[in-house]
Amino acid sequence: MIPPRQIQDVLDAARIEDVVGEFVTLKRRGVNLIGLCPFHGEKTPSFNVNPARNIFKCFGCAKGGDAVTFLREHEKMTYVEAIRWLAKKYGIELQEIERTPEQLAEIQLADSLYIVNEFGLKHFQQQLFDTDEGKSVALSYFRKRGLREETIRTFGLGYAPDQRDLLIRDAKNTGHSLDLLKKVGLCSQDGSRDFFRARVMFAIHNLSGKVAAFAGRTMSSEKTVPKYINSPETEIYVKNKTLYGLFQARKAIRQHDECLLVEGYMDVISLYQAGIENVVASSGTSLTEGQLQLIRRHTDNLKILYDGDAAGVKAALRGLDLALEQDLNVKICLFPDGHDPDSYVQEFGGEAMNQFMAANAKDFILFKTELLLEETRHDPVKRAGLIRDIVGSIARIPDPIKRSVYLRECATLMEVAEQTLSAELNKIIAGSIRKKEDKAARQPGRASDSGPFIPGDEWPTEVPPMPSDADFPPDQPFPVEPGEPRRQTRGGAVQERDVIRMLIQYGNRTLEQEQVTVAEYILSDIGDSLDSFDDPLYAKIAIECQNMLLSGRSFDHHYFIQHPSAEVSELTINILSEPWDYSPNWEGMWNYPLQNQKMPDLNFDLDMKQALLRFKLLKVNKMCDQNLARIKAASLAGDDESMMRYMKVQQKLLATRNDIAAKGGTVIFPK
Ligand code: UTP
Ligand code: MN
Repeated sequence: MIPPRQIQDVLDAARIEDVVGEFVTLKRRGVNLIGLCPFHGEKTPSFNVNPARNIFKCFGCAKGGDAVTFLREHEKMTYVEAIRWLAKKYGIELQEIERTPEQLAEIQLADSLYIVNEFGLKHFQQQLFDTDEGKSVALSYFRKRGLREETIRTFGLGYAPDQRDLLIRDAKNTGHSLDLLKKVGLCSQDGSRDFFRARVMFAIHNLSGKVAAFAGRTMSSEKTVPKYINSPETEIYVKNKTLYGLFQARKAIRQHDECLLVEGYMDVISLYQAGIENVVASSGTSLTEGQLQLIRRHTDNLKILYDGDAAGVKAALRGLDLALEQDLNVKICLFPDGHDPDSYVQEFGGEAMNQFMAANAKDFILFKTELLLEETRHDPVKRAGLIRDIVGSIARIPDPIKRSVYLRECATLMEVAEQTLSAELNKIIAGSIRKKEDKAARQPGRASDSGPFIPGDEWPTEVPPMPSDADFPPDQPFPVEPGEPRRQTRGGAVQERDVIRMLIQYGNRTLEQEQVTVAEYILSDIGDSLDSFDDPLYAKIAIECQNMLLSGRSFDHHYFIQHPSAEVSELTINILSEPWDYSPNWEGMWNYPLQNQKMPDLNFDLDMKQALLRFKLLKVNKMCDQNLARIKAASLAGDDESMMRYMKVQQKLLATRNDIAAKGGTVIFPK
């Protein structure tokens, strides 16, 4: 934790023009500076930086704020990351409290591992550029593969000659400990041999540009030698959280709002050199969730570039579903047989490559559908499996709107009814929510895996923060009538509270018939009118639920009990501590025959639907009243035309009201 006093020091020191200037080219105009907005594409600058007020503001897209806002928005940092970044920039040493001795030791170890790797990089570069053997063997190899010196330096390429312990001796001479060499895997465990020998070397950077590991490629085409060998995993190198090239690609990914994903180190380097800089590689393994989360911090759009052979396609399909789960928009672009991105761009150049991608990239779901359709053309049994397969992919997309668009398109492609697909979809979604719940129940208190902490990597992936109390409006004072319980005195009507109660208490239960959860049902029913909640607290909760559903997170009452907002957790506890959760005056108010009802716990399905109807009725009644007032006003003003119009509206409202009432079934609505 950073002491608040120091946060203030950092904020005071931060100059907006310095900070923005690191990422945007600014020109002086009068007392202000101006540049092209990094948040939206534009050709004429409307992005203003005001040094006097220490803020930025774009008059094109309306984004604005201080240095911290800029770093959060542009670099996707968290608040704390932004403060740390600024402190470093302005040479303010943060006295962070609360680091355990273990953590400190871990950080110290990480620092020394990075230092040893830095030494390794220098050593390999020296061997490449400053020795005759390096120049004739390795540099010429890179040149043959079309790489320029600038590129070779940008990616920290090097050379490890075929000698037993050249690096070990160099390390000894320059005062590096053998122990650390072993720890980063630069030499054998007995300390007698170099790990990388007779290979051209590739540095693997972490997100802040430090060398986390190496890969070495043999220059021989002999099949008995492994083509690449890699540093072992260490405290600073966690493979499934590393994307090769991301450090170099970050800025371009942001600019293009798209990340290209290739298979190999050479693909990344060649594309980058050809001016296509927004490219990373998963390094031979299939994509992991951690890697996708890294991408997701920079863009929503992922384009996977693979060789056109069968293995390439299969690899691509495997990566797809995980990427969809991260809510990435996924496209795939296959290269003609015999080409990979590296060979294509080396042969035809960057411009041709861009054109090729523009012409050949396909939306992944539609690509998969077409591919499988082709495969199952004459096989009805397989065709049925295909539907499940495709819908299984669609089900992974957290955004319900996107899901329904795909559903429609795929139904057309497959020539089946959309309802067939959507029934299948609902089944799968309900099933996967149940599975998630079971999993959560087995591992209490660990809902999401934020992955290991990699010391020295300043961009840890993390779970989205819980909303803080500050996100919620202050409690509104409300006249408390004597003798009435507190829950009745909130601004919103009981109907609103009841909908919230359903979300909190039964949100994750599955409805027998519809095969969706209560929360999904409620929010798809009234999701459009969440702003019509009169009570701001209820509105916030409903919106939060909606956001969680949209981002694929399930929730239950535990979540709300632990909620950082005291108001929310208090409301939750009140709701959960009421065994018969009907407001005491339900019966009188609504003629609601409580005694004849099952316990709400057994009856949440009907209970929820009626709560929704009452909520809608409340809103329609309110609209009726408002409209009635308009009619009166128009009539007083003698404005016949308006009056007629409002009368028509009133008829519609009343029809809606009757409709709701008719659906109300056992519930007898007053009025
Ligand atoms: P490729 O064989 O496509 O390698 O493997 P490449 O990078 O394109 O290399 P060139 O063009 O043949 O020189 C793709 C990736 O798979 C991993 C590496 O990360 C490689 O970049 N790989 C491959 C290994 O880790 N070990 C291997 O033996 C082979
Ligand atoms: Mn290759």
